[in-house]
Amino acid sequence: MLDPHVPAVVLAPMEGVTDAPMRHLLAAEGGFTFAVAEFARVTHTPLPAHVLRRLVPELDHAGRTPTGLPVLVQLLGGNPERLAESAATAVRAGAPGIDLNFGCPARTVNRHDGGAVLLKSPARIHAIVRAVRAAVPPHLPVSAKLRLGWDDPRAILDTAPAAADGGASWLTIHARTRAQGYAPPADWPRVGQAREAVRVPVVANGDIHTLDAFRRCRELTGCRHFMLGRGAVADPALARVVAVELGLPAPPLPPPGPVDWPARIKRLLAVVPQLARPDGELRRVKQWLRMAAGCGTFDRFDAIKRATDLGELLGELERAN
Ligand SMILES: Cc1cc2nc3c(=O)[nH]c(=O)nc-3n(C[C@H](O)[C@H](O)[C@H](O)COP(=O)(O)O)c2cc1C
Repeated sequence: MLDPHVPAVVLAPMEGVTDAPMRHLLAAEGGFTFAVAEFARVTHTPLPAHVLRRLVPELDHAGRTPTGLPVLVQLLGGNPERLAESAATAVRAGAPGIDLNFGCPARTVNRHDGGAVLLKSPARIHAIVRAVRAAVPPHLPVSAKLRLGWDDPRAILDTAPAAADGGASWLTIHARTRAQGYAPPADWPRVGQAREAVRVPVVANGDIHTLDAFRRCRELTGCRHFMLGRGAVADPALARVVAVELGLPAPPLPPPGPVDWPARIKRLLAVVPQLARPDGELRRVKQWLRMAAGCGTFDRFDAIKRATDLGELLGELERAN
């Protein structure tokens, strides 16, 4: 799935944002090599297949989106045995690989021994990767997604080798510590240092929101594999632009000009199944546009943020078009 010698563009997991409908939309727009699903949290018991299928409906289709993009299942937790058993269930259910989350900064998750809190212990990261690796057939990848550290970015020089020695197929590094949250700038040079400290491929992640940013990230990390999160959601052409820059095949680019948000929103809504909450669709569209505003591809957030239903929001957007 990730060949050390072939560049790759990976769609980032973003809880509440890159769910199955959004993965379908972005996969259909093109440019990505594979995607990682939002985290599935393993707490007191291993996850059963039906829970994994609910979170990652692509499992019912050999772990691929309707246009064929492979989707890795991401597991989060601190217990090696329960994570290993959940990973085995996920691959039996159809997962093309497993990613392990060592980066989630959420307080509740960290208090319960999951996500970025594990960055404090390279030995525990090693043990988790090792246990999961042993539970997954050798032909399927097990990767680890790390931040630079809890509060010290130098920690990555211990945690990255720990994950690699545990058997990780590759590492994805979000170029920030947990303490840095999402505040810019991303520390790309540090990702480059980590890349030099391990023998497995490193996927660079964090703040690749434009082609210029991508070029700087590539230069400063020396990586040939990249993960796009907010930038990909905000700009439908970004993954394709990056893929072309990396010499990968990609569908033609849309004509230059502002993003046609109403058309995109309608395409997403067409693939969103029934959402649990009646205001779910409005919430997710606002969240999407807030992300686009943050990345500079949408400049009318103030005009739509108080919309009380989708019709009003779309009407406002179409008036401005
Ligand atoms: C709303 C949101 C939800 C996220 N959820 C996850 C997640 O479930 N698993 C994970 O490993 N990272 C998660 N992340 C982190 C992203 O995968 C990525 O590392 C981060 O956004 C930096 O990349 P970007 O600047 O390209 O967005 C999330 C980020 C955001 C903004």
